[in-house]
Amino acid sequence: MSLASGLKLSFMLHGVGRGWATWRHPEAVIDGSTNIDLYAQQAKLAEKGKFDFLFVADSLQIDEKSMPQYLSRFEPATILSALAMVTEKIGLVGTFSVSYTEPFNLARQLASLDKLSGGRAGWNVVTSWLEGTAANFGHDKHLAHPDRYRLAAEFLEVARGLWDSYEPGAIVGDKEGGIFLDPSKLHTLNHAGEFLKVRGPLNIDRTPQGHPTIFQAGISNDGRDFAGRHADAIFSVLKDLQKSFEYRADLRRRAAAAGRDPDKLYVFGGMSTVVGSTREEVQRLSRERNALNPIESVLSALGQYFHDYDFSKHPLDELFPSDLKPEWLNSARGTVIEVAEVAKRENLTLRQVAERYGRPTDSFEGTPEEVADKIQHWFEAGAVDGFMLGEALPGQLKVFVEEVVPLLQKRSLFRTEYEASTLRGHLGLSEQENRYVSAAQSRSHAASA
Ligand SMILES: Cc1cc2nc3c(=O)[nH]c(=O)nc-3n(C[C@H](O)[C@H](O)[C@H](O)COP(=O)(O)O)c2cc1C
Repeated sequence: MSLASGLKLSFMLHGVGRGWATWRHPEAVIDGSTNIDLYAQQAKLAEKGKFDFLFVADSLQIDEKSMPQYLSRFEPATILSALAMVTEKIGLVGTFSVSYTEPFNLARQLASLDKLSGGRAGWNVVTSWLEGTAANFGHDKHLAHPDRYRLAAEFLEVARGLWDSYEPGAIVGDKEGGIFLDPSKLHTLNHAGEFLKVRGPLNIDRTPQGHPTIFQAGISNDGRDFAGRHADAIFSVLKDLQKSFEYRADLRRRAAAAGRDPDKLYVFGGMSTVVGSTREEVQRLSRERNALNPIESVLSALGQYFHDYDFSKHPLDELFPSDLKPEWLNSARGTVIEVAEVAKRENLTLRQVAERYGRPTDSFEGTPEEVADKIQHWFEAGAVDGFMLGEALPGQLKVFVEEVVPLLQKRSLFRTEYEASTLRGHLGLSEQENRYVSAAQSRSHAASA
């Protein structure tokens, strides 16, 4: 089997921990989200496990009720650049919002990361779902949900245009002849669209991947459409196997409808494991994990999708308050609509909704063999192309790398060595061609035909 089409694995760096209470675990590192030693140690461990990439999430607004991991954390381009220096092969993917930066800045940051990591940069394109973010950037209002995805499409188009500013070989560096640059290979974008006006060219030349690898994590119709058209990979929340299968099939249909090869859009399901050597150990760890997710944390997790709504002011055992507020719909729209519909249809109480949507649903629990079996089953059933592992409990990455990965390798599901050195290479994607080179090639083919 070609391992480029094999199972894919990635690791989400959480620093102090997932959720609102994981920081209370005896082994949680309190300054973990700003601790370079912890990040470096986890990055090296994931690379030892031959993972495809590391992922650093981000948001741009906090208040006193934010998740501890959000309260004080590294800016993604900065930490990923530092991790590039202590790793060699593993991909480096960060979240960057299109709503609160300029394409010139972001295209430049990502091109820099791609160059300094030797082609390992990836961008999780998000539009930001927290309304309060606007106030940190001099805006009165957050953009409306459909406008955000139109902006995302235009932003990505501009970023791609900027990354094509330089054709390969544009910087000649001919010392004898005194020619540093071949100006015919430097291009000005001159973009003027609905939201953005950018002249270009970008002030950094072509990078190893051509363009960084593009990720997305939208759930709504607009979000899925965006991924179908533009993304190389998408993150998904695992609910059950059937729903995940349908989600992946839907994305593949959208990619095909946009004229793309659906095999080149990878779905990564979020997964957190509770792996123990014996049944008893698994049960003990599982109890530990549940204790770190009390109902108050689960309500906060639910509230996050709803524009950080404070559900704790409603009685837990009464019907879920499903009258949609406009600000909810402008938040994580896809999830909000689903939750409200299901709650109404099934007459669910707030507690039942919180248990279903606020509690992590991505748990793979068991002995190493049992967890490897489940991973294999989900992958072979076509529910995912790979997984993004997050630590439900400190130390689970190490257990996974040392005890689950070897089983996946033995079953020929996962690579034993990196075959490539770029993120696109790990994912079986080719380097992104420069548009001006492609256009010149098409012209010369047409002329010789
Ligand atoms: C695994 C995963 C990771 C995500 N990471 C981020 C992130 O780092 N920053 C962010 O603002 N949103 C993040 N999101 C939220 C999405 O960008 C998106 O807003 C959300 O899934 C709602 O989708 P919709 O806008 O299409 O309704 C993530 C979502 C998922 C499923």
